[in-house]
Amino acid sequence: MQKDTANWFSDQLLSWYQLHGRKTLPWQINKTPYKTWLSEVMLQQTQVSTVIPYFEQFIQHFPDVKSLAAAPLDQVLHLWTGLGYYARARNLHKTAQIIATEYDGQFPVEFARVLALPGIGRSTAGAILSLALGQHYPILDGNCKRVLSRFSAVCGWPGNKAVEQKLWDLAEQVTPQGEQVSAFNQAMMDLGATLCSRSKPRCAQCPLHLNCRAAQAGEQTAYPGKKPAKTIPEKQSFWLMLQYQQQILLQQRPASGLWGGLYGFIEFGNEQHRTDYQLLNNLKVAATLELPAFRHTFSHFRLWITPLLVQLATKPELVQEQTAAQWFTIAQLPQVGLSAPAKILLQQLQALQPRNEEKS
Ligand code: ADE
Ligand code: SF4
Repeated sequence: MQKDTANWFSDQLLSWYQLHGRKTLPWQINKTPYKTWLSEVMLQQTQVSTVIPYFEQFIQHFPDVKSLAAAPLDQVLHLWTGLGYYARARNLHKTAQIIATEYDGQFPVEFARVLALPGIGRSTAGAILSLALGQHYPILDGNCKRVLSRFSAVCGWPGNKAVEQKLWDLAEQVTPQGEQVSAFNQAMMDLGATLCSRSKPRCAQCPLHLNCRAAQAGEQTAYPGKKPAKTIPEKQSFWLMLQYQQQILLQQRPASGLWGGLYGFIEFGNEQHRTDYQLLNNLKVAATLELPAFRHTFSHFRLWITPLLVQLATKPELVQEQTAAQWFTIAQLPQVGLSAPAKILLQQLQALQPRNEEKS
């Protein structure tokens, strides 16, 4: 980002914060690293309005690190009940005990020491030291990621290391030197939590509107990029449904493997093999009907099934693949285990059969 754009960004955001930012939240009054830490941990994945009563209760019970460290874990968890993500409460307690023993209850003020505490990552460490003590560290929580990725049109999912690094670089560039870092970091979180919301950003009211690339392009909701969908491999399967008069040929599948032991149609890995099979067995074909291909999704791959219904003029002597093959009456579903797609196809086949005239 250009230096003058970065300066403009921080000036705009700070002016906005003076008018619209949150300055009287319980943890913003008489700030200490302890209170800021407690509130930041509570605010991870939780909204401000939910956090407020919990924060106040915690401060009443545990006014400082030492009282929190001395409390039984059960009491901490009890007071946390309803906030969710309980690992946060366990880490909070563990961290309080570390601070009580290693730092005599004084919250550490060096970045590396804060970062080393359980449950505190780079952004939370930066938030504690900047909000409480005005130290010059950028932050990058979910709100900041949204604002920055939109402002600079950063493509890609922030869970990706390279994308995250790009966002950290931007956060460093826009974070102002000097006394304003605390207000600026709070403003970033406030803007992300209020105007620059996930689905309906109110860009017309946003102080960054004029230079925001996503807003200029009308593509706000394209940022931040989504987690790429897990791509699972696709396989093809060609099924041969042999019909002779009112009967259909089914074959039991090998005991191990897909649909092990269940009955299904004769299966081929490609269309050529299916054609070869018909020739090899010298099938006398009366009619063929291509049924629409469909897919069946397993946990680890997706199977595209292309069924072909072949109606035979004579009952064949099958020389290939006849192991465990059996003729079944179409009119009633066979009393054997069927693979799910085979069952659906059989039901479709039943529906295709000409009905016997009902006797009147
Ligand atoms: N989310 C995380 N920290 C926050 C803070 N200090 N203010 C508002 N939202 C936040
Ligand atoms: Fe977010 Fe819109 Fe502001 Fe850009 S202009 S930062 S998209 S609210």
